[in-house]
Parts: sequence; C-alpha cells; structure tokens
Amino acid sequence: MTQRTLVLLKPDAVRRGLIGEIIGRIENKAQWSITALEMRGLDLGLLEQHYGEHAGKPFYEPLVQFMSSGPIVSMVVEGDRVIEGVRTLTGPTDPIAAAPGSIRGDFGTIVRENLVHASDSEESAQREIKLFFPGLV
Ligand code: RTP
Ligand code: MG
Repeated sequence: MTQRTLVLLKPDAVRRGLIGEIIGRIENKAQWSITALEMRGLDLGLLEQHYGEHAGKPFYEPLVQFMSSGPIVSMVVEGDRVIEGVRTLTGPTDPIAAAPGSIRGDFGTIVRENLVHASDSEESAQREIKLFFPGLV
C-alpha cells in the first residue's frame, strides 16, 4: 500500500544540527523515498491551518510560537505503509515516554520540542502535503 506522508523537522531539530541524523533514519528504511524537500520558515497563517485541530488548547499558542521560532525542514516521504512507519520511527509525543531507538526517545526531553512532525492518517497526509507543497502533483 504505497502512501505519502508529510514530515517536518521542527526548529529544535534544525538548531541542534540533527537534520542529517533524522533524514538518515528515514533514508535507511528500505523502499521508502524522499520525493520533496525544503528548508523554510513558517508563518502564523500556515501554522493555524496545519495545527487547526489544536486551536484553543492550552499548548496551542506556545506550540505556534515555537514552530515559528526558526527554520524547519519539510519533506514528503513515499512508500509502503509510510504513514504508520514514520510515526513508529518518531515515537510518541512525549519524548520521555518514547522508547530509545526512536527519534524522540533518542534526542528529546520536552513535549513541545519533540523534533519531528509526521502525518497521523491518510486524510491528514493529503491535507498537510497540499498545505506545504501546493505544487506537488
Ligand atoms: P505532531 O502533530 O507534531 O506530529 O505530534 P503528535 O501528533 O505526536 O502530537 P499532537 O497531539 O498532534 O500535538 C502536536 C504538537 O504539539 C505539541 N504539544 N505540546 N501538552 C503539551 O505541552 C503539548 N502537547 C502537544 C508537541 O510539539 C506535539 O508534537
Ligand atoms: Mg499530530
């Protein structure tokens, strides 16, 4: 079942020099490929759309502040069961609860600064890819 997912390397990952480390873990997985990639800043309009499901929650404002605090890397990864697979590589939201070997488990300690975003379903992936790579067919 070939899928596409949107992956973001959050500002903490970029600031800490972990772009290569994280992209390497995705590239190391057999059969998956990175089919779009960009480094950019995120404005509040885009973030409101991306994290709309969390609007009004107590962590929303600091999340948006954090996500606009520096450049991010956005990419599309394609492959068999890649939506579930990248979420497995990433680990759960709280890095302290994330297993060693996962990206969040190996590098994170703070819930907000958890290094990566990955789409959580087919519907989210389609919506998020359109938002970040509107020109992609
Ligand atoms: P993401 O959307 O970034 O891939 O992360 P996720 O699915 O694992 O987590 P989600 O519930 O969608 O939350 C989005 C991001 O908001 C920050 N967050 N902070 N209690 C808190 O302080 C809190 N809860 C969530 C995290 O950066 C999380 O990844
Ligand atoms: Mg999420």
